Amino acid sequence: MKRILSGIQPTGNLHLGNYLGALKRFVQLQHEADCYFCVVDLHALTVPRDPKDLREKTMEVATLYLAAGLNPEKMTMFIQSHVRAHPEASWLLECVARVGELDRMIQFKEKSKGKGADSVSVGLYTYPVLMAADILLYQADAVPVGEDQKQHLELCRDLAERFNRQYGEVLTVPEPLIGELGARIMGLDNPRKKMSKSAGSSANFIALLDDPDTIAKKIKRAVTDSENVIRYDPEEKPGISNLLVIYSLLAGESIPALEQKYQGVGYGQFKRDLIDVVVDHLVPIQERFRELQQSGDVERILAAGAEKASQVADETLSKMKDAMGLLPPSR
Ligand code: AMP
Ligand code: TRP
Repeated sequence: MKRILSGIQPTGNLHLGNYLGALKRFVQLQHEADCYFCVVDLHALTVPRDPKDLREKTMEVATLYLAAGLNPEKMTMFIQSHVRAHPEASWLLECVARVGELDRMIQFKEKSKGKGADSVSVGLYTYPVLMAADILLYQADAVPVGEDQKQHLELCRDLAERFNRQYGEVLTVPEPLIGELGARIMGLDNPRKKMSKSAGSSANFIALLDDPDTIAKKIKRAVTDSENVIRYDPEEKPGISNLLVIYSLLAGESIPALEQKYQGVGYGQFKRDLIDVVVDHLVPIQERFRELQQSGDVERILAAGAEKASQVADETLSKMKDAMGLLPPSR
């Protein structure tokens, strides 16, 4: 059985982009592979965070994993910082990675743009190496992510290959699993830029925990074009195309089928139907989220997950250290 690992940062509000690009696919994959899903709280420290907010968001994301349908009997989920091997393996890989490689990382360039070197953390720079550690410790064959993580995954593959060349075959080289549809959900207020947790305006995204009225308002206001024709054309009609992708993935209807269904129908009606599709999909997740919050189950599931994950991660870490020439402690 294939091994899969992925993670989501507990920053901002989880939105439809995270859901369609990542979480919804995790839920499908748990039935097909040996899956490990983590909440990457160490990654969230790379930009200044309020400690109380970080604690709350970490639990929120873990609870949303379960509310969205991840089943502790079918997969292992845990909080990154509960498995001590991650930062340790990250150090080992930092000694394999090259400064030139990290200099080329687009996400770092974007996130540090306009900020002086004296205000950007070293962690933001080495972030992709920690991500590689997350993946390689589990010997993952595949990593489901959105399009924006492609470059980080290429780096991860390069590091695994270089490690294996230098120190012997220890690490599995993972494949990215990027969906054909939904890997890049665009912002509702600006469909030429991706939907993002760090967007300036909340009109950019639909959060998984937005109430139905908020969802309706955001969809009604979503930027489209003046043609009033429902046709999938991401270049010419990015707004409507993005809404079609969201509709298609949530309702399980293909884009051509939707284009057919909405022939001669205006944007107003299409948006009203899309509101129903989104609300019908998210309300049950929100109800389950509230139940889980009351239950105390989440902590228990995370504790068991961290224990299982640690066993797997420790085994790989020992192999890495041994291959690199670090002496094991004598007993
Ligand atoms: P992050 O919020 O950066 O931790 O991202 C968590 C997961 O959601 C990653 O797999 C991202 O690639 C994915 N993701 C983030 N934004 C989008 C988006 N706008 N469309 C599709 N996937 C996304
Ligand atoms: N960097 C990823 C993001 O911002 C989050 C992440 C950290 C991740 N470690 C990972 C994703 C390991 C997949 C596998 O979305």
